[in-house]
Amino acid sequence: MADIYVNSSGGAYDVVVESGAWDRAASVIAEKTAPSKVMIITDTNVASAQGARIDALKESMLCDTSSFVMPAGERYKTLTTLGGIMSAMVEAGLDRRSAVLAVGGGVVGDVAGFAAAVYMRGIDVYQFPTTLLAMVDSSVGGKTAVDLPEGKNLVGAFKSPRGVFADTTVLETLNEREILCGLAESAKYGIILDKGYFEYLKANAGVATEKECLDRQVCRCVELKRDIVARDEFEGGVRALLNYGHTVGHALEVLGGFERFRHGEAVSVGMVTAALVAEEIGFGEKGLASEAAEYLSALNLPTAMGSDMDAGDIIDVMRRDKKNLGGSLRMALPRAIGEGEVVSDVPVSAVKSAIMKHKSLYG
Ligand SMILES: NC(=O)c1ccc[n+]([C@@H]2O[C@H](COP(=O)([O-])OP(=O)(O)OC[C@H]3O[C@@H](n4cnc5c(N)ncnc54)[C@H](O)[C@@H]3O)[C@@H](O)[C@H]2O)c1
Ligand SMILES: [Zn+2]
Repeated sequence: MADIYVNSSGGAYDVVVESGAWDRAASVIAEKTAPSKVMIITDTNVASAQGARIDALKESMLCDTSSFVMPAGERYKTLTTLGGIMSAMVEAGLDRRSAVLAVGGGVVGDVAGFAAAVYMRGIDVYQFPTTLLAMVDSSVGGKTAVDLPEGKNLVGAFKSPRGVFADTTVLETLNEREILCGLAESAKYGIILDKGYFEYLKANAGVATEKECLDRQVCRCVELKRDIVARDEFEGGVRALLNYGHTVGHALEVLGGFERFRHGEAVSVGMVTAALVAEEIGFGEKGLASEAAEYLSALNLPTAMGSDMDAGDIIDVMRRDKKNLGGSLRMALPRAIGEGEVVSDVPVSAVKSAIMKHKSLYG
């Protein structure tokens, strides 16, 4: 369907978005870097849901192949898992010319990508995203990380993949809640960057999870992310726009003990709050929040944060966030649909009133 060309300081690569993308991987990889060996890294859920496809991928490789299956879940995105991967790499005889194939959602992509970034000071990685979130967001752009007990993504590296293979038929085994999380990130691109795309999403809300629409979303989100990363690979400025909905969203994840909200759900709620903040400080058009909320609820994504969430607690976590080290609040805010800006020094009082308004309007 589409090969989307991405430029990065680590070299240019293509994001292949099509059914059967994995079947093309062996020849693309052989041509691109001809690795001495590859290690397929995946997680237990993906290994059982997509075992046949992973076996076929392994069989198709034109070099010696080994596998590493990590336990599934964010709580294994750790230095301990990373250490296990490193040891397995040594044992499998991976050298500086070897490559990692990260087959999974954002968790596998992040930890396997980071493993590739640091093993022998860096070997190649190819991404095979298996969640919608990984297809529209995490597999592209080169951010990798693991979590510390002190916080998410605190140790990591920029490590661009040498290729990305996105086949939305892989999503057939993913549960609906995870698909919805990907749809929240997809909506993020429309609301903050591309009005035309958001119009398309609204018009197709009823078929958002059908293959044709998923393919369109993956392609458009990858293009939009590609364009942002081309302007600001290392997040000195405009890339922070992609954090729209994430500052409040992250606080909700933390306060919910990472159990109450999935990441995409927290982002869904956070996008509505951020739109209310934009309205509150007179930066954004009136009606932005309700337009975002209307689309998200049409998809069955949450817009309520819960009456027990305390504005003061949310703000405390936002201030502690590594992106807000200076103490002042920095947020990606929409001015209008499809037009965003990163605003530093958002007054805490405005965030507080927006949260109160959020609770009275959406719960
Ligand atoms: N690097 C980046 O730029 C970036 C961007 C956004 C998010 N992230 C990271 O991504 C992570 C979240 O990613 P995620 O939402 O994909 O979560 P995930 O990787 O945990 O996947 C969600 C669940 O679905 C399972 N799964 C994955 N693919 C499946 C399939 N095809 N069939 C059945 N089950 C499947 C997984 O095992 C897991 O249980 C977070 O750690 C976040 O920090 C990174
Ligand atoms: Zn996200």
